Amino acid sequence: MKMWQGRFKKEEDESVNDFNSSISFDSRMYKQDINGSIAHAKMLGNTGIISKSESEKIVAALKEILSDIESGKLAIDETAEDIHMFVEQVLTERIGDTGKRLHTARSRNDQVALDTRMYLKDEIISVKEKVNALAKVIIEKAKANTETVMPGYTHLQRAQPITLAHELLAYANMLKRDVMRLDDCFERTDVMPLGSCALAGTTYPIDRNYVANELGFSSITENSIDGVSDRDFVIEFAFCLSMIMMHLSRFSEEVILWCSSEFKFMELDDAFATGSSIMPQKKNPDIAELVRGKTGRVYGSLTCLLTVMKGIPLAYNKDMQEDKEAIFDSIDNVKLCLEIFAKMLDTAVFCKDNMKKAAGYGFINATDCADYLVKKGLPFRQAYKISGELVAVCIEKNYTFETLPIEEYKAVSEVFEDDVYSYVDLNTCVNERKVPGGPSEESVKEQIKSLEKFFN
Ligand code: ARG
Repeated sequence: MKMWQGRFKKEEDESVNDFNSSISFDSRMYKQDINGSIAHAKMLGNTGIISKSESEKIVAALKEILSDIESGKLAIDETAEDIHMFVEQVLTERIGDTGKRLHTARSRNDQVALDTRMYLKDEIISVKEKVNALAKVIIEKAKANTETVMPGYTHLQRAQPITLAHELLAYANMLKRDVMRLDDCFERTDVMPLGSCALAGTTYPIDRNYVANELGFSSITENSIDGVSDRDFVIEFAFCLSMIMMHLSRFSEEVILWCSSEFKFMELDDAFATGSSIMPQKKNPDIAELVRGKTGRVYGSLTCLLTVMKGIPLAYNKDMQEDKEAIFDSIDNVKLCLEIFAKMLDTAVFCKDNMKKAAGYGFINATDCADYLVKKGLPFRQAYKISGELVAVCIEKNYTFETLPIEEYKAVSEVFEDDVYSYVDLNTCVNERKVPGGPSEESVKEQIKSLEKFFN
């Protein structure tokens, strides 16, 4: 018999119970549910809404239920409607009528909002820690590669010389913004909704700030209708997670490319790569591919949540129960991805010689050649044209800027002198880019310093 069955003449059909039930997925919030109830019961006792001794009895029993679930002594009943009903049911079984007083001045509508906020607050912190750990691996790799010259790409065409450190730190900066976004999302999640009750608050003299304080919330929701119907914080977190995955998928794509024989910039550790069941020569970057693939899944959850919430009238509607599986799935997968990606990167080896070799082809110092002419007084557009003509000469006669004889330079422009060779040297090209944010060792070390301060 359901607790809410007073006005019903029939038992609920079993299929309806199964269809309605959320316990298979919301049972993971048991701790939040019980701790929320403990704070609520204490408040009811403090304000005299129930007696002190009743309050104490409820609190003690709730603590026992929590430890019994944790020790495995109490199994979650998979046929219960949801975790909130289950806990209340067990409580009433254990302490009788006193247990029935817990739900005074409360509804499952504000209860589920509270539990979800508490659960997500913990998860935001946990995701942040994992982003932090990955960023630290990236920074370590960057520190070891401030002199590793490689081609930087645009359109996947070799463009300008950079270092591996410079490239890696671009990802660290993305993760920095991800952490900032999570902090921001935390702030909006950290608002206590209990006391909104079903939607219209309550006539009981409850103390919402006491509950907020007990549970470590910074503030309380300011409108009871919004308090029970707002799921923005869930969607916002799903967006933060999607953005993390978008970043990881870009990094994954580079790992996949870099591991190919065509690039061979990177060699994965055997423990973090997989083989093929038919092609013995294969060493596949499955982890990076799965991370790239799971990005679609995490975006899917964000779309799911936005669509579930679209057009729902105020206040609570059962549609909102659909929020949990989507956000839980995103959390689980993003955490998995962050963890394994960090390990994969940590154990990978970069093929510095191949990077350098690749930097030597493709005329990635063509801009530097043009800049040389500008420094000698030519307007940039004219210098650009001359540098382009030299590329054509090099292609035709099989030279690079470094090996092209000075006569060939001079044949295109009289301005060239012997000092051009030091200008087009790849190390010079990188290290002269001392601009803040640039690839020079000096600039990259500044970037590392700033990131280390952030990810401490
Ligand atoms: N299991 C429900 C959920 O996750 C709890 C709230 C139920 N409230 C209600 N009025 N039926 O949304």
